[in-house]
Amino acid sequence: MSEVPESAPTTDAAAPQGPERTGPSRRTVLRGVGIATVATAGVALTACAGRQPTPPVDYGSTPPAGTVEIPKADVPVGGGVLLQSPYVVTQPTSGDFKAFSKTCPHMGCMVTFVRGQSIVCACHGSEFAITDGHRTLGPATRGLTSVPVVVDGDNLKVG
Ligand code: FES
Repeated sequence: MSEVPESAPTTDAAAPQGPERTGPSRRTVLRGVGIATVATAGVALTACAGRQPTPPVDYGSTPPAGTVEIPKADVPVGGGVLLQSPYVVTQPTSGDFKAFSKTCPHMGCMVTFVRGQSIVCACHGSEFAITDGHRTLGPATRGLTSVPVVVDGDNLKVG
């Protein structure tokens, strides 16, 4: 790498001297910015070297199926509730509990919410009755799959 001899004229040396020049020249500032940029890029490349991509992570939006227990009081009469497990539990009339798989039979989305007497899949608009899970609207060609639900005191065992 060549160095600039001390005696060689530079733009800084050729720049006007005197009271109007109080800070570093524009060229000096730009040279500093360039050096800083190259140094930053070098550090970034070094930090990335040798790293392997990580395998995909399954965040598991829906826990695996299995029996779950919930308080009966969590299920509104004339409506239902989506559980974190892959079930939706309804209570069409007081004390009459039903449970269904949340998997929409159309294309496999999880149903999205319970609205009034309907379990709704927002993916494509299919709706299912809270009474027995049959399809009431949308592109699904069949209803939700029923899941066993047992009343156990103040709780429900679902799945
Ligand atoms: S996946 Fe539910 S309506 Fe299409």
